[in-house]
Amino acid sequence: MNPEQLQEWRQLTRLAADAITTPLSTRTTAPDRFTDFTFSAGGLLLDLSKQRLDNHIVNALLELAQASGFPAARDGLFNGEKINTTEGRAVGHTALRAAPDDRPAIAQGVGEVTKRLEQTVAAIRSGRWRGATGKPISDIVHIGIGGSHLGPELVYEALSQPLNQQPRVHFVANIDAHALAAVLADLDPERTLFIIVSKSFSTLETKINASSARSWFLERMANSDAITRHFLAVSSNPEAASAFGIPEANRFELWDWVGGRYSLWSAVGLPIMLAAGNSAFAELLAGARDMDQHFLNAQADANLPLLMALTGIWNYNFLGVTNHAILPYAQRLRLLPDYLQQLMMESNGKSVHRDGSPVAIHTMPVVWGGAGTNGQHAYHQLLHQGTRSFTADFIVCANDEHQLTDHHNWLLANALGQSQAMLMGEDNADPHKAVAGNHATTTLVLPDLRPHSIGALLALYEHTTFCQGVIWQINSFDQWGVELGKKLANPIFKQLGGSSTLTQDGSTAGLIDYLRKTTRDNAE
Ligand code: F6P
Repeated sequence: MNPEQLQEWRQLTRLAADAITTPLSTRTTAPDRFTDFTFSAGGLLLDLSKQRLDNHIVNALLELAQASGFPAARDGLFNGEKINTTEGRAVGHTALRAAPDDRPAIAQGVGEVTKRLEQTVAAIRSGRWRGATGKPISDIVHIGIGGSHLGPELVYEALSQPLNQQPRVHFVANIDAHALAAVLADLDPERTLFIIVSKSFSTLETKINASSARSWFLERMANSDAITRHFLAVSSNPEAASAFGIPEANRFELWDWVGGRYSLWSAVGLPIMLAAGNSAFAELLAGARDMDQHFLNAQADANLPLLMALTGIWNYNFLGVTNHAILPYAQRLRLLPDYLQQLMMESNGKSVHRDGSPVAIHTMPVVWGGAGTNGQHAYHQLLHQGTRSFTADFIVCANDEHQLTDHHNWLLANALGQSQAMLMGEDNADPHKAVAGNHATTTLVLPDLRPHSIGALLALYEHTTFCQGVIWQINSFDQWGVELGKKLANPIFKQLGGSSTLTQDGSTAGLIDYLRKTTRDNAE
């Protein structure tokens, strides 16, 4: 049965009619509001007290989850079942952080790859790994895009401040050559190690960047054997990595049951290991594992990922919210919105159910965001006085690792002040100055920005995304929509460099002609 046909869905539609007219601020005056609507796991606090929720609504949402087959779907995820049906693949990312005895059968190779990764990391960090001319490695260049980039860079930035950053890690994702050139400009090829990360080893951006990096390297080293001391690969396509010139000893396997956007826990996380060390990476996995265990075992009415997912469903499907902001009040988490955009929008931006029938309800809305407090001086004006509905997650850390206490307390005060303004608003006789408020937000409190907390946070969002896909009855693990644009870029690339324009679409044909005449090489 489709979601909207369930009686639990219809019950929520009835509840929403009432909930939407009740000012949010009246809900938050109840004396036990905070205690009743905060939940914790893995060291994190989830505060839903500023959401348009009451016990009755939460129960109705939990009934919807039950009617949608949530418990069985969750078992399928943890048992490594083939739930990515359109690609015929199992989904097993939780196995990457499971204790060895808890790993499902598909994940038997994980221990072996982990051992090789740890040995490689120890050799590089200690200086035992030498470049072709005998020098130790000072700089790592990670080349990859999407799921092969966003997670590693997010965690690297989140952890890098308290580290002394040896070796330094640089990320190149965009096909725009300025990304690669800016990184290579300051590097010494004799001390540089490239990691080519691509599950498919066929992604255009990564192929082009990797081959330009190889040319840059070979021009300076004049010895093609040197590649074996300066290039590593993480991929599930060993033939393509080998054809590129990377020998077996330098290749780390990525299994087809690890989706790109769920892969930072695998060898894709190599730059995190290199920057922060093997034990920090193990702590990251432990944080995610704690959240996995909580998700598996906690009662539904205290289950953080499930409650966070249902809160989203309530807002997006019943209260008309059309976009969701991710607002980390932590400079070191400034890349979290980018990472979550892929996780949530690539997973759940779908228009058909698992059986291929069209959805009659909305699925994931647009996710956006940026670090606070910077956003307060950019887009928060619209949040406070614009006409659009939105919801937001505020992510704050109770403790930081610098000594400038005033900065940290101001950061926290601003986060809380913003969510309070969104809740309460303010009357003013001057309509230009009045703030309506009445916007629902969630606050997530991390104890700190140590690897364990970051692991728990990212696993929380992964499972939230999973639960929403279950309720919408969509496949959260494929991404067919991105293929068309890739396919169309091929003939356009040829036409930009040639003389004929074949496309049927007059607008694109016009742009191709215009660019052909205007680009530096062709302009008269
Ligand atoms: O184009 C989308 C996508 O397939 C993502 O799903 C994936 O994370 C990214 O490209 C990179 O893919 P790969 O790791 O195969 O290079």
